Amino acid sequence: MSHYEKPPELYDGLRLHQNENTGGCSPRVLEALARLRADEIGFYPPYAGATAAVAGYLDVPPDRVTLVNGLDEGIMAAAVAYLRADAGGPVLEAIVPEPAFEIFRFDTAVAGGTLVQVMPHPDFSFPLAEVLAAITPNTRVVFLTNPNNPTGVGMPLEAIRAIAHAVPPGAIVFVDEAYAEFARVTFIPELDAFPNVIVGRTFSKAFGLAGLRIGCLVGHPATMDDIRKAVPVYSVNIAAAAAIQAALQDLDHLDGYLRQVAESKALLYAACDRLGIKYWKSLSNFVLVCAGDRTDAIVKGAFAKRIYLRDRSTEPGCAGCLRMATGIVDHTRRAIAVMEEVLCAAP
Ligand SMILES: Cc1ncc(COP(=O)(O)O)c(C=O)c1O
Repeated sequence: MSHYEKPPELYDGLRLHQNENTGGCSPRVLEALARLRADEIGFYPPYAGATAAVAGYLDVPPDRVTLVNGLDEGIMAAAVAYLRADAGGPVLEAIVPEPAFEIFRFDTAVAGGTLVQVMPHPDFSFPLAEVLAAITPNTRVVFLTNPNNPTGVGMPLEAIRAIAHAVPPGAIVFVDEAYAEFARVTFIPELDAFPNVIVGRTFSKAFGLAGLRIGCLVGHPATMDDIRKAVPVYSVNIAAAAAIQAALQDLDHLDGYLRQVAESKALLYAACDRLGIKYWKSLSNFVLVCAGDRTDAIVKGAFAKRIYLRDRSTEPGCAGCLRMATGIVDHTRRAIAVMEEVLCAAP
């Protein structure tokens, strides 16, 4: 498998292609960063304050939380901790229901694991029977995302329970909750009952901290002890540790963004209905839109106006689809206007 190619560095326009919060972080974060002292930057960072703040926000004891340098690092830690085979042992398997966040594929390959893809239903309803059928004695990780990226569709928590019961001893179910704030659904309250489940969260999306790189893994203390071995010692820097504490003290900022996301999605759904374009109702801050053979023209037409959308048409089950972040209402209106312009200009 080739390596992961980052999307091109497009910072000269409207970035609706990476599900970021285009309104940015809380002003309290900027104040906290400005307050950082030279000596604090000179020392390796302490994590107790940031861990306690995150644990408080997630309503779990601090020993359930491991901070990571973005959830990307948490996913890599899970792959490294669980998918490396012992010398002479069988190759270990990661199950990924598709379409999925592509990093699962690449990290599985980096760790030497075998990728077992489960193909999607046409309506993207969760393929529980197929995932259960894909489990073998060599399964070590099942990567789930709730709500999913790139579809925005959620999965029933009952499916997570069923998979956690079905995986072999020594395997984990990794529930990526990068977009949980938008869905208001989490598996975290069940982690004590399911020590083989790890939840991953990020502060890149709803909190607008993608540039600072901070997320966390949450799980049973024994499971956290195992996975911490695969997380670099001081991977979260002092700026991110300060920023997350400030961000979590300003949940009004989060609420304001959540309101805009809801309004943006309603605007985009209405536009798609007007234009006769298919879409999937999303529990996230983005929407997967299927404009079929018009998708390419929309993505290119928007690009020409420096509005960046993500063509997802090569992802499993996503032929003819693009993904658009639906956050700040004014930004969504601009993207919809371009979409309408391109489609009305088309013969
Ligand atoms: C499903 C999913 N998981 C994880 C991430 C990565 O998050 P982070 O910015 O915390 O590395 C993303 C970012 O797009 C994502 O969509």
